[in-house]
Amino acid sequence: MESKLCIVTGATDGIGRVTAQALAERGAEVVLVGRNAAKGAEVGKAIRRSSCNDRVRFEQADLSSQTEIRALADRLTAGGAAIDVLVNNVGALFMRRRESADGIEMTFALNHLGYFLLTGLLLERLHANGGGRIVNVASEAHRGAQMDLEDPQGTRRYRGWRAYQRSKLANVLFTYRLAALLAGTPVTANCLHPGFVASRFGHNNGWPFVAALKVMMRLSAIDMEAGARTSVHLATSADVAGVSGRYFDECREAASSLASHDEDAGRRLWEMSETLTGHRY
Ligand SMILES: NC(=O)c1ccc[n+]([C@@H]2O[C@H](COP(=O)([O-])OP(=O)(O)OC[C@H]3O[C@@H](n4cnc5c(N)ncnc54)[C@H](OP(=O)(O)O)[C@@H]3O)[C@@H](O)[C@H]2O)c1
Repeated sequence: MESKLCIVTGATDGIGRVTAQALAERGAEVVLVGRNAAKGAEVGKAIRRSSCNDRVRFEQADLSSQTEIRALADRLTAGGAAIDVLVNNVGALFMRRRESADGIEMTFALNHLGYFLLTGLLLERLHANGGGRIVNVASEAHRGAQMDLEDPQGTRRYRGWRAYQRSKLANVLFTYRLAALLAGTPVTANCLHPGFVASRFGHNNGWPFVAALKVMMRLSAIDMEAGARTSVHLATSADVAGVSGRYFDECREAASSLASHDEDAGRRLWEMSETLTGHRY
């Protein structure tokens, strides 16, 4: 990975941080993206030290804000460097409905539109080195969900877990349509389930919810190293060179839900995402 430039979003904690660490240990140049500048500086320093790799830096951006995503993409593309790996990892669960700075429901804005817009803005650079890899961190939570394309932002009735499930289904639908768009080019796009991982996921919600989640994590979650394994596999392994448009679990190709293969839903989601972000691929 020594000649590779890798970008990992949501890299100041959890699965993203461990993914960034693993890529740095393999010698890649790594850009950590996160919203908290002080934490990002600290995590960047810790990864540089523990990986013995100086080519690790932090870029601050709130990835629920389209203005900040555009500014981030401008900074990342400014030098004209090729991007080899983009790991769209950022994600969160919001049990109460909130809106982003752009007035978009937060789960949809951060977990789906953030992936859609950042990838679109970096796509040219992902083509530059003869074949970049796009890795979208989805979830088994997508199973059992259907997109509500009449009310994707839950304005009529918002349920946090359902919104999260739909956002993860959107990750899979986005990956499949993106891979179809990229067919015939050397750029690949895949998505994955990291496992149920003991991270800070969900900790932005109220204490009773967090307490229950912590118990569940203690009982059945895997650690963050195991949780990052499939992301790292898709970002680095020769086994998946040229593989695109697939869903992975435990580093193996797996079947995603029937709803994730609904091409009409994928097309409508894509068109809606273009309208909401103002970005055309
Ligand atoms: N944990 C699981 O069991 C599990 C299962 C399936 C899928 N996933 C998926 O895995 C991915 C990573 O989750 P995780 O478990 O590692 O979660 P986590 O521990 O909560 O880490 C989330 C990361 O995203 C960052 N972040 C959150 N909101 C942001 C924003 N608006 N702008 C920029 N960065 C932001 C956080 O920054 P701070 O450090 O500032 O908080 C942190 O670095 C998500 O896409 C999630 O849906 C997780």
